[in-house]
Amino acid sequence: MEHMEGPSVVDCTHCGALVDSRQQIVNGTGPEDADLLFVGEAPGANEDEEGEPFVGRSGDVLDEALRDVGLARADVRITNCVRCRPPENRDPTGEELENCRGYLEAEIDLVDPEAIVTLGKVPSEHLLERSVGVTNEAGSLVDHELGGARRNVLICVHPAATLYDRSQEETFEQTIERAAELAGDGGQSKLGEF
Ligand code: URA
Repeated sequence: MEHMEGPSVVDCTHCGALVDSRQQIVNGTGPEDADLLFVGEAPGANEDEEGEPFVGRSGDVLDEALRDVGLARADVRITNCVRCRPPENRDPTGEELENCRGYLEAEIDLVDPEAIVTLGKVPSEHLLERSVGVTNEAGSLVDHELGGARRNVLICVHPAATLYDRSQEETFEQTIERAAELAGDGGQSKLGEF
C-alpha cells in the first residue's frame, strides 16, 4: 500500500487537519504475528509525543490488566483506528476514520490475530460498522469480516473508562481475561517463561 513500509505508515497527508496537529504518525507496536491486536481510537498528547500507542494513563491501565493475566505489552500488538492525534483530542471524523481504514485493515491482514480487541466505542463501531453500546456489549465476541478474512472481534470498554467509573473496572478486566484465553495460552503467563 502507498505510504506503508511493512505495517508502518511512513508518510501520509490524507487528513489536512491531522497533518497540522500531529507531531508524528503513531504506528502500531508489538509483534507482527501477535495473537492479540488491540485497537484504540487515536493517539492522544502522550502518544503523539512518544510515537507509541497507549503510553499515557490509559496505557498504564492496559499494561496492568495485561500483567494480571500473565501478558506483557511486548506480547501483544497495539494500534489505533487513526494514526495521527486529532486537535484538542476531539474524536476523529468519519472521513479521517475512512482515510486511515486501509492502513488498519492492512495491519489486521498482516498480523492475522486470534482476536481483535476494540478499546472503546469509536473502534468498536468503526470495525463492526454498526452502533455499539460498549458498556452492555463489553466481553461479546463478534465474528466480522476485516482485513480480507473473518475475524474474532472482542468488544471492550476503553481503559480510560475505568479511571472515571470504577464499575467499568471489573468489566474491563474480565474482557482482558477473555482476550488472554482467545490468545490460546489460556491466560498462562508468558512472563513466567523468563
Ligand atoms: N486512547 C486511544 O484510543 N489511543 C491511544 O493510543 C491512547 C489513548
